[in-house]
Amino acid sequence: MAYSSEDAKGNWAVIVTKFDRDDPTAGLELVKRPIPSPKAGEALVRILYRPINPSDIFALQGQYAGFQPQLPAVPGLEGMGVIEEVGASVRAVLARFTQGMKQGQRVVGAPWPSAEGEGTWQQYVVVKVDNLFPVRSEVSNEDASQFFVNPCTVVGMVHELQPPAGSWLLQNAANSVLGQEIITYAKHLGIKTINVVRQNEYINELKQKGADVVLNSNEVDIVQEVRKTTGGKMAWGALNPIGGPKSKAFPSSVRTHGTVEVYSLIGEEVLVPMSDLVWRDIHVKGFWLNVWLDSLPSHVREKKLKETMDMMAEKVLAPPPPSAKYPLVDVKKAVSDAQRKSGREGKVLLEG
Ligand SMILES: NC(=O)c1ccc[n+]([C@@H]2O[C@H](COP(=O)([O-])OP(=O)(O)OC[C@H]3O[C@@H](n4cnc5c(N)ncnc54)[C@H](OP(=O)(O)O)[C@@H]3O)[C@@H](O)[C@H]2O)c1
Repeated sequence: MAYSSEDAKGNWAVIVTKFDRDDPTAGLELVKRPIPSPKAGEALVRILYRPINPSDIFALQGQYAGFQPQLPAVPGLEGMGVIEEVGASVRAVLARFTQGMKQGQRVVGAPWPSAEGEGTWQQYVVVKVDNLFPVRSEVSNEDASQFFVNPCTVVGMVHELQPPAGSWLLQNAANSVLGQEIITYAKHLGIKTINVVRQNEYINELKQKGADVVLNSNEVDIVQEVRKTTGGKMAWGALNPIGGPKSKAFPSSVRTHGTVEVYSLIGEEVLVPMSDLVWRDIHVKGFWLNVWLDSLPSHVREKKLKETMDMMAEKVLAPPPPSAKYPLVDVKKAVSDAQRKSGREGKVLLEG
């Protein structure tokens, strides 16, 4: 099927026709759809870049709560683009962004309308203006495309735990893109990090990024190492995306009354020693960006999104450079490439 950026009249879109747990590329097709028109309160955004995140892969496998639309639907949980057109009477709504929020403005969605089956893996998306956020000039298009899923989650999880400056924060899968952003954001706030990985090759790299301590879960006893590092105080809180037998080290490594935030589905179940729950009042809770953002009063939500963009502009929250860029037409290759790669290599982006 032909696909060209010169084909200005169409909206080339990746659609998913069926979920497939074993092969997330199995239901993907490229189709040409009409360019949608924005109504009052909406803007038409031409998307420039979208990263392929683990959550997109979960979505194509039918395992993501935020993407359960009627199929076929357009996947893609995040990206960045430029405003192409604003719906009638939107001008007044845009005033809240002060000057410059108009045709040509670079924007990110928070969130994009992916839950409704109109995700970012298409050239044009209509978005409610209230869900658009301007990109600061210091942030590149590639970095901005990764604003929503990881940086907002980093800010959200730290906001929930409230670790004071000088305390220790423990995290697992620290070499992931999100884990690297936790390291730099925590450092900026004066919080020290204990970072768990499963291969020694990540240790030096994470220390160069500002990690205070890096532990290989295949070589050391996490609880003992945390006790030693913190002088017996244990970590203020912990972030863990990985289930399975080693997950029980995290509740045992936080202080009495401390919290472990579980934020992914890798491994399916986490273990919590009953003695930590009963004797030490440890809390183990989930974190999902969508639920967290919906729980915030609008002025706090706006403040947190602004803080996230400011942290990106100041390079505190800076994703590693993309590891590859593919046009939409090569979406199957791009998804397979993203599945093979480890986080520290940087995201695979869909371009154009
Ligand atoms: N709850 C939320 O709102 C939210 C928001 C954003 C992201 N997330 C989740 O956060 C996680 C990280 O996202 P990302 O974009 O930073 O991903 P990423 O860069 O692709 O990193 C994935 C990480 O998971 C580790 N991993 C994968 N399979 C594993 C396994 N079986 N056992 C142990 N470790 C394993 C990888 O370690 P190796 O390099 O050693 O393979 C790597 O550290 C993802 O699972 C994502 O879904 C959740």
